[in-house]
Amino acid sequence: MSFSENVIEVRGLGKRLHDATGDLVILQDIDVSVAKGESVAIVGASGSGKSTLLGLMAGLDTATDGSITLLGKSLGDLDEEGRAALRRGAVGFVFQSFQLMPHLTALENVMLPLELLGETRHVADRAIKLLEQVGLGSRLAHYPKQLSGGEQQRVALARAFVTEPAVLFADEPTGSLDTATGERIIDLMFSLNKASGATLVLVTHDLAIAQRCDTTVQLAGGRRVDGVSAVSDASEARGEGTKTPH
Ligand SMILES: Nc1ncnc2c1ncn2[C@@H]1O[C@H](COP(=O)(O)OP(=O)(O)OP(=O)(O)O)[C@@H](O)[C@H]1O
Ligand SMILES: [Mg+2]
Repeated sequence: MSFSENVIEVRGLGKRLHDATGDLVILQDIDVSVAKGESVAIVGASGSGKSTLLGLMAGLDTATDGSITLLGKSLGDLDEEGRAALRRGAVGFVFQSFQLMPHLTALENVMLPLELLGETRHVADRAIKLLEQVGLGSRLAHYPKQLSGGEQQRVALARAFVTEPAVLFADEPTGSLDTATGERIIDLMFSLNKASGATLVLVTHDLAIAQRCDTTVQLAGGRRVDGVSAVSDASEARGEGTKTPH
């Protein structure tokens, strides 16, 4: 990848679903460019499409329109295995719902990405160091169901960090954390960003986090609305439930 090439290029992206009630447009006409080392906040009301966009950019889901280039590879050209191979080691993902392996301890969950890469050196030490950094040094042998929501979220963060990914995607990474713990986690993310030039793409409702990022992508009703004059109208129109015409 050349120096000037973007780590992520999203062009005319759309995601439509078809169910019994008809076509549902989840995302429409989204363009995003993310440079190496950039930090990006994806913001917007609940249901505006943030998690869907994050999953598409990471190659966890497939688009119905447009294109995505991740780390120089066009995701539309890759099958599921190809996308998994691209992510392995290069991409970290923190799910909104954590998605820890229930039958593995906190330590084993964090070791897993290294093991999948075939790494054998200091695997446990590296995982323990990360768990200590997120404040869970005394919870190594706990299984996910024995951990609080915030603790599970921190295990998920440690798991995403442990391979020192080139791109870290995180879906509301501080959503289950108190303010002080959340700040510590965000500091850790930005230190990864500074130390290794990692690119960060974060979904967040927290304005303080969004302000620390280089760029903001604002969604409303599945469209990108930042830089558009009708931003507030669009956000307001996107209330809960059905919209009352006026
Ligand atoms: N598999 C699916 N089937 C039907 N609808 C879906 C599906 N996935 C997402 N949606 C719908 O798409 C919209 C966007 O969902 P998404 O999870 O991306 O929102 P979000 O911005 O992350 O919201 P939140 O802040 O609540 O996490 C929602 O209205 C959701 O109901
Ligand atoms: Mg979401």
